[in-house]
Amino acid sequence: MKYTTLGRSGLAVSSLALGTMTFGAETDAEQAHAQLDQYTEAGGTMLETADVYSGGQSEEIVGEWLRGQSAVARDRLVIAGKGRFSVGVDPRDSGTSRRHLRRALDGTLRRLGVDHIDLYQVHSWDPLTPLDETLGFLEFAVQSGKISYAGLSNFLGWQIAQAASAARGRFPLISMQPQYNLLAREVEWEILPACEANGLGVLPWSPLGGGWLAGKYSQHQRPSGATRLGEDPQRGVEAYDLRSAQTRTWRVLEALQGLADAHSQSMSRIALAWVSAQPAVSSVILGARTTEQLADNLGSVDVALTAVDLAKLNTASDPEPSAWPYGEAGRDQRSRVLD
Ligand SMILES: NC(=O)c1ccc[n+]([C@@H]2O[C@H](COP(=O)([O-])OP(=O)(O)OC[C@H]3O[C@@H](n4cnc5c(N)ncnc54)[C@H](OP(=O)(O)O)[C@@H]3O)[C@@H](O)[C@H]2O)c1
Repeated sequence: MKYTTLGRSGLAVSSLALGTMTFGAETDAEQAHAQLDQYTEAGGTMLETADVYSGGQSEEIVGEWLRGQSAVARDRLVIAGKGRFSVGVDPRDSGTSRRHLRRALDGTLRRLGVDHIDLYQVHSWDPLTPLDETLGFLEFAVQSGKISYAGLSNFLGWQIAQAASAARGRFPLISMQPQYNLLAREVEWEILPACEANGLGVLPWSPLGGGWLAGKYSQHQRPSGATRLGEDPQRGVEAYDLRSAQTRTWRVLEALQGLADAHSQSMSRIALAWVSAQPAVSSVILGARTTEQLADNLGSVDVALTAVDLAKLNTASDPEPSAWPYGEAGRDQRSRVLD
C-alpha cells in the first residue's frame, strides 16, 4: 500500500480507499466483514461510506465490524461519509439544507457507532439550497467535533470553485469525489482543474466503470449472471446499452487487454493503475462484490505503468473534445512557454 495526504491538508490516507456501496446489496454482512479485514490487513486505511448505500445497511455493517476492532486498529482508519439523498421513505427528505444534513450526519454516526468521522462529503449539489447554508452546516459540523474535514462529491467545476472560495479560512474543505475512469474522462475538462486549483484531493468513484474495465462484458452478448449488469443491464451510468454503443468502450478494452498481457496482470489492475497515476488523484475508491475481486484490485499498487503504457491508454480513451475550448486549440491558447 502507498500513502499520501488528501488534497491541501495534512490528512494521511492510503492510495486505495475501500468503497462500501456493495455492502448489504450484492455483498452480505459476512462477506463485507471479510473485505474489511482483507483491506486493512493489506494496509488500507480509508473507508468510504454513504448513508444511502443499501438504505443505511451498509453503514450498519461497517459499524458492526468497527465494534469488533481494537481501539488501536480503529484509530488507524480514516472514515469518510456522505449525505444529501433520502434514506427513508420520504423523497422530499433530501438535499443539503442544514436540517437534512444535520439529521443525515447524526444518522451516519449512529449507524457507524462512532461520535466523530474524519471526512464528511456533500454527496451532490442541491439546486434548491443556498450554498452558504450548506457550507454553514459543514463549518458547524467541524466546530462541534463531529467531523474533522469536509469534502464534495459530483460537483461541477464552477460549483467547486464557488464552494472552495467561500469555505477558505472558515473550515477545511479538502476533497472532491467524481466518477473518473478510462471510460469517463470528461471530468478532466473542468472538474479536475477546479480541484487542483483549489487544493482539493480527488477521490475517483467507479474506477472500473462499474466492472466494465475488468473486461467482463462482451460486444456480442448481453450480460447475464451474477454481475452488476447481468443482474440489471440498465443500471446507472454503466448501463450496458449506453456503454456498448460507444466505439471508445471497445477501443479502451482492447488497449487494456494488450497491456494486461504485456504486464501479465489483470485488466482491472491496469485500469486502476491508470487512475492512480493521474496527478489530481489522491486515493482511488475500490468497489468489490467478492474478496477475490478485492485481492485483484489491491494488487494494482504494484503495477508500474510506463509513460508509453499511459500514452496508449490515453489515446484509446480520449473523449475527443472539440478543438475549442477543451481540445488542442483551447489548450494551446491557455499555455505559456518561456524559453
Ligand atoms: N459519490 C458517488 O456518487 C459514488 C457513486 C458510485 C460509487 N461511489 C463509491 O465508489 C465506490 C466504488 O464504485 P464502484 O463499485 O462503482 O466501483 P467499480 O470498481 O467501478 O465497480 C465495482 C464493481 O466491478 C466489479 N469488479 C470489481 N473488481 C473486479 C475484478 N477485479 N474483477 C471482476 N469484476 C470486478 C464488481 O461488480 P460485479 O461483480 O457485480 O460485476 C464490483 O462491484 C463505491 O463503493 C462507493 O463507495 C460513489
